[in-house]
Amino acid sequence: PHQFIELLPFANHLLPLPSLQAVGSDGVRISMESALTARDRVGVQDFVLLENHTSEAAFIENLRKRFKENLIYTYIGSVLVSVNPYKDLEIYTKNHMERYRGVNFYEVSPHVYAVSDNSYRSMRTERKDQCILISGESGAGKTEASKKILQYYAVTCPASDQVETVKDRLLQSNPVLEAFGNAKTLRNDNSSRFGKYMDIQFDFKGAPVGGHILNYLLEKSRVVHQNHGERNFHIFYQLIEGGEEDLLRRLGLERNPQQYQYLVKVGDTRASLYGFAMWCFWVSQGNCPKVSSINDRSDWKVVRKALSVIGFSEDEVEELLNIIASVLHLGNIQYGGEDSGNAYITTDTQIKYLARLKSPLNLEQASSARDALSKAVYGRTFTWLVNKINVSLTYKNASVIGLLDIYGFEVFQHNSFEQFCINYCNEKLQQLFIELTLKSEQDEYEAEGITWEPVQYFNNKIICDLVEEKFKGIISILDEECLRPGDASDITFLEKLENTVGGHAHLTTHKLADGKTRKVMGREEFRLLHYAGEVNYNVNGFLDKNNDLLFRNLKEVMCMSDNKILTQCFDRAELKDSKRPETAATQFKTSLAKLMEILMSKEPSYVRCIKPNDAKQAGRFDDVLIRHQVKYLGLMENLRVRRAGFAYRRHYETFLQRYKSLCPETWPSWQGKLADGVSTLVKHLGYKPEEYKLGRSKIFIRFPKTLFATEDALETRKHSLASKLRLIQTGPGLDSLAAVCPSPAVVVQAWWRGILACRRAQRKRQAANTIRRFIKGFIYRHNERCPENEYFLDYVRYSFLMKLRRNLPKSVLDKSWPTAPTALIEASEQLRKLYMQNMVWGYCKRINPEWKHQLEQKMVASEIFKNKKDNYPQSVPKLFMGTRLNGEEINPKVLQSLGSETMKYAVPVTKYDRKGYKARPRQLLLTSNCAVIVEEAKLKQRIDYAALKGISVSSLSDGVFVLHVPTEDKKQKGDVVLQSDHIIETLTKVAICADKVNSININQGSITFTMGQGKEGIIDFTSGSELLVAKAKNGHLSVTAPRLNSR
Ligand SMILES: Nc1ncnc2c1ncn2[C@@H]1O[C@H](COP(=O)(O)OP(=O)(O)OP(=O)(O)O)[C@@H](O)[C@H]1O
Ligand SMILES: [Mg+2]
Repeated sequence: PHQFIELLPFANHLLPLPSLQAVGSDGVRISMESALTARDRVGVQDFVLLENHTSEAAFIENLRKRFKENLIYTYIGSVLVSVNPYKDLEIYTKNHMERYRGVNFYEVSPHVYAVSDNSYRSMRTERKDQCILISGESGAGKTEASKKILQYYAVTCPASDQVETVKDRLLQSNPVLEAFGNAKTLRNDNSSRFGKYMDIQFDFKGAPVGGHILNYLLEKSRVVHQNHGERNFHIFYQLIEGGEEDLLRRLGLERNPQQYQYLVKVGDTRASLYGFAMWCFWVSQGNCPKVSSINDRSDWKVVRKALSVIGFSEDEVEELLNIIASVLHLGNIQYGGEDSGNAYITTDTQIKYLARLKSPLNLEQASSARDALSKAVYGRTFTWLVNKINVSLTYKNASVIGLLDIYGFEVFQHNSFEQFCINYCNEKLQQLFIELTLKSEQDEYEAEGITWEPVQYFNNKIICDLVEEKFKGIISILDEECLRPGDASDITFLEKLENTVGGHAHLTTHKLADGKTRKVMGREEFRLLHYAGEVNYNVNGFLDKNNDLLFRNLKEVMCMSDNKILTQCFDRAELKDSKRPETAATQFKTSLAKLMEILMSKEPSYVRCIKPNDAKQAGRFDDVLIRHQVKYLGLMENLRVRRAGFAYRRHYETFLQRYKSLCPETWPSWQGKLADGVSTLVKHLGYKPEEYKLGRSKIFIRFPKTLFATEDALETRKHSLASKLRLIQTGPGLDSLAAVCPSPAVVVQAWWRGILACRRAQRKRQAANTIRRFIKGFIYRHNERCPENEYFLDYVRYSFLMKLRRNLPKSVLDKSWPTAPTALIEASEQLRKLYMQNMVWGYCKRINPEWKHQLEQKMVASEIFKNKKDNYPQSVPKLFMGTRLNGEEINPKVLQSLGSETMKYAVPVTKYDRKGYKARPRQLLLTSNCAVIVEEAKLKQRIDYAALKGISVSSLSDGVFVLHVPTEDKKQKGDVVLQSDHIIETLTKVAICADKVNSININQGSITFTMGQGKEGIIDFTSGSELLVAKAKNGHLSVTAPRLNSR
């Protein structure tokens, strides 16, 4: 299957997992099943593709199929529906993050990362602020989803050192806020008891650089009372379980939650009024400090670390914990009744100032004053905490993605003021949702040039108005009752409602209701018909909760506190302000209006969370519970709006890429305009005109069935391709296959051949270009360098230099040198000279002194004889000797008579008599001053160099030479005729010793010499076969020199 998948040119888009969808916790499953069976098994991944889109049953069935396969995410268009799996799925790894990064929303299976990435990219590319609205009922997974989104950004966004700290703080703000704002409830062991909107801020590079948190309506009543099986805020238990001994001692706390009324007591503080027995009963019933899913001790460590990451100093942490401890102490204050009816404190508490509570209040009033103080202290501290985190996140003005994790619609058996506020909030969000979804649909149609068909939908503005309208709205009426003098009570508020808005279509009361409704309503209830359904609210406690008052003297006391956090929470200015503080409902209304403004200015994405069962169990899909939520989340309405026009839309490119194999004209590729390609394709597929529309960049398909038919056709085609390919691989059936259609192997071959042909063509094109440039360059080669010839000239230069490099002369005597092209003659000559100089220089550096001496003599010989005497060339390769006669060969008497004169050279010679030219063996000795002719022990003739007139020699190859001496010198007997076997060496030595290099005459034909007494002698030279020296008939000395081949 792997081979098959790699070869197929299909991207894996949209639909119900035909081949490569992410399936369940194991990530990617490769399945060869047909799309149809896959659709049967795991449903559609986008509800818009449900054939029967108005059927709630079909909707839930689709959710169920997917849930069973661990597919917890499904789209409604761009809205993500998420079902809490209540177990850890392996779908949040770094690999998964990478898979969703920068990928088109529809190309991968639905995931919260896809939504995160889509928002991030829209923010980056369209430069528009984004927000992700997460909603759903308690325990549905809102907070988990928001954490996943934050982690996705922390991991995948670019970062720098400074960003790392902000990232850490953003991530670490979660455990801190959860410790102080979350609690175990019956519905969720980690239920957020406040609404949270968080801006994540990105710089121009897309790195997260800051953040800002807004908090909404903390459930303060939890500080003083929790329902059976629920807990107070986590921080109380964490401190008691995890706090170090020292710390607890300083705070005066014991490591036992049972010691603290606020942690074990349930029901109202007023419960004490029922008497001690009753109180004991409540305690034993409600005490719930330990929960198996929560580890307070390890959570404490996490929170402590997070606090320091965020930038809390040790002192600040201590002060914060001091407040938490004080609240616990406060809860333990007991009151006794005085005879007068006034209450007094019966417990010995270290919080002395509370003694002032001994006041004109009765028991009940005193208890509620104490609780009011606890709630105020805790509530304000929480707000302070959020602000503190905000300061540490250094919010700046840049692009943002907002995350809204806010309570979903709540309907309990008994609904009070809190549910009223929460459901009002959801009503507002629904309004925003409808407006924005419809608007974005309308915008898309407009952008694509498709006529907008009005969609019928329920506009819940009427309900929002009923709650929030000035003077006439429920909140205004409630405020009025709170502020008015006289005996206002919850019941008078109810009556006022009946009188003022009793006629409203979305409100009714026990009194106003018809008989049937009256049966399911209490007398103290009013019913609101929300967009999501009916909810009965019990008015009991509405006024108190709305007033949220704290006695002035308690406020004064708090202002005087030493605790720095408390002094920030309770401002003295508040005491001077005589204006009544805004009621809780009005404050909430104002903050919601601001939130709507924030959200309206951004582009929204939605995550709708669903809780599959009330037991917090994995794998349980409770139909009734889910149907309830589908209704309250308005998912059917959402789907209806989305499906009102066209079920499916896709960019032309994506559509064509996926389905092009279904039409011969678009397969394997479409060359024309994309729109034309899509048009050709759908016509070939037989789409009817009412089934689709072509927009500017997208195709809109009205019914899912049209798309499914196409998808099935594609699947069939893929299967046939695959089976053919398998057959081709295994062998048989080739003939029959060839008859059907081109087999996959053929297609693959064709593609490959195509690629090869493209490469060949490219190489040919390149070659042709090179040749063309070469020819042009050759034509222009004699011009100055210009664009036409530069390629050629460069090539010529390059190739000459390369050739030169390969053929450089190896020795100083090697005279070869490559012939240079015309353009490079001068350069070549320069190079040659340089190279030679370099080589000679290197050679010279290597020679030793003896060799140098030898060469100097050879140089002299060359100067004298080169090209002048026939036997010179033979002498060249023969080394000159220092001397030809050593000390023993010369008679000692001769040496004695020479005295101190140093002997430079000695050689045996033949002397020819002046008269008869008789040949006599002699020795020729050269000293530093003279040449001496020696016979045995006799010094026959001494010629001072100064007296040496010249030397004559023939141009032939003979060894005869004449030393000319002055005739007037009486001591001399005339010129001396000698013959040496080493004529070149001998004469070179004479010339050097006597400094007579320029006095050697080389004669052609004959030499004339003086014989003494004015007589002349003549030597005639001729060439012959061998050397012959003899007296001729004419009285001359005749020398026949052997002919040499070289000349
Ligand atoms: N995607 C998920 N994967 C695994 N478990 C999840 C997932 N989402 C939620 N849960 C489980 O469900 C529990 C409740 O989720 P969460 O706290 O996010 O709910 P909530 O919607 O924020 O509820 P509340 O409104 O009470 O704050 C989590 O503590 C976790 O155990
Ligand atoms: Mg939550």
